[in-house]
Amino acid sequence: PGIRPLVAGNWKMNGTSASLNELRTIGNGFMSGLDTETEAVVCVPATLLAHAVEILSRTPVRTGGEDCHPKESGAYTGRISAEMLKDAGASHVIVGHSECRSDLGEDDALVQAKASAAWRAGLVAIICIGETSAEREAGTTLEVLSRQVAGSVPPSATAANTIIAYEPVWAIGTGLTPTAADVAEAHAHIRAKLVDLLGDAAARMRILYGGSVKPSNAAELLGIDNVDGALVGGASLKAADFLGIAEAY
Ligand code: G3H
Repeated sequence: PGIRPLVAGNWKMNGTSASLNELRTIGNGFMSGLDTETEAVVCVPATLLAHAVEILSRTPVRTGGEDCHPKESGAYTGRISAEMLKDAGASHVIVGHSECRSDLGEDDALVQAKASAAWRAGLVAIICIGETSAEREAGTTLEVLSRQVAGSVPPSATAANTIIAYEPVWAIGTGLTPTAADVAEAHAHIRAKLVDLLGDAAARMRILYGGSVKPSNAAELLGIDNVDGALVGGASLKAADFLGIAEAY
């Protein structure tokens, strides 16, 4: 059997308690005959995590955090550990999102440590990689992806504890998407690098595409070889859009 696809939402710094109605609708959609083979997880701000877990608890939709600190606890004001996310009911956590890499100066070594922290707590790590527009224009996309896979993915990663998300930075929140050929090339390259690093464990590891995924382009993007799902930002805030993307499979 093929890899079961995953549609993951990332609410980023959006959402208050009023937004929980969208999550209820998402949960209900997956409960009531949504025509999809996909699994789903929604990563929400830490302030909403416990509420989200409760709302989605009787549905197949899982809940995740958006980042974690590599340490379990300690004097790190304002930070959240993987153990805290697990305690609140999360099953997944995003690490190395491009917004964290650029806004907070995160490097591959820190992202790798965060992925290991996620496993330590019993969470699945969603490790984000992707080139900037300058890197794409310079023709270094595949080189950047090689470096990020080698540096950000711990060598003991398995298909069960790790998901890769390929997000071209220039496609995030811009409405721009790479061509299908460019997505296929990037995902095949990432798969090959994962096989180099992990061996057989890489064959069934999910590689999600992220960057301006919406219901209208989901079928094309998700139909590309080695695209095992989507990481959805803006469109995950609207239940109808998130469900529409899930149904594109
Ligand atoms: O984590 C999600 C991505 O950054 C994609 O965001 O769907 O708003 O482009 P977007």
